[in-house]
Amino acid sequence: MAKRPKLIAGNWKMNGTRAEAKTFLDALSKLKPEMRPGRQLLICPPATLIAEMAGPLAGLNVQVGGQNCHPGVNGAFTGDISAGMIRDAGADYVIVGHSERRAMHGETDQLVHVKALAARRHDLIPIICVGETLAEREDGHAQSVVRKQVRDSVPDGIEGIALVVAYEPVWAIGTGRAATLEDIATMHHVIREALSGKSDDVECGLILYGGSVKPDNAAGILAVEGVDGALIGGASLAAADFMAIADAV
Ligand code: PGA
Repeated sequence: MAKRPKLIAGNWKMNGTRAEAKTFLDALSKLKPEMRPGRQLLICPPATLIAEMAGPLAGLNVQVGGQNCHPGVNGAFTGDISAGMIRDAGADYVIVGHSERRAMHGETDQLVHVKALAARRHDLIPIICVGETLAEREDGHAQSVVRKQVRDSVPDGIEGIALVVAYEPVWAIGTGRAATLEDIATMHHVIREALSGKSDDVECGLILYGGSVKPDNAAGILAVEGVDGALIGGASLAAADFMAIADAV
């Protein structure tokens, strides 16, 4: 089986002022995140902080990413930010299709697909999020929903570790109720299967789990076969929690 690195990614969502970013960076620098083979660290702050945090984070062996991008290059799209601008601000990654954007901004699989393509054109790695709602799981449709999201959201031809999908069951996000290890294992297998045919080396692509990952459950989740890292919301806002999860790799 391909040996894939583990990607530990923080999603700050709409949290973080410049002062809070400084507090986080000061705390992180005391923890001295070390460069470890097989582990990559990433923080995705709000767009206002990407440029400011990119340099200091790089000095701490942590990469920086955006949380969303517009599929276009530039133009009359008030309030939007292009993939090229996010790259220009110093990012290496961008999250696309997070369930909060799908639910609150009506983002479709087709839109997520073109956002991921825009990211690749600007040399950003898109973290393409998928995941079922509680109703879909209770109705027994979790796998078919996620399969369809993967099929329609993930563009063909993304190679190697630039192919990153995050499985985030909607009901596990921000609830303190992570999916069971068994459900995570099953769905990661389903996603890898759904990815086959989309790239020549799907075995190299990363599938992250997200949804209430915390320091106390990270080791168990990261040890599940097929889990190549974590997308962390709430627990990524505190440097100590973020590094506790990273050190569980
Ligand atoms: P959470 O969020 O870790 O706070 O559940 C995860 C996410 O939405 O990416």
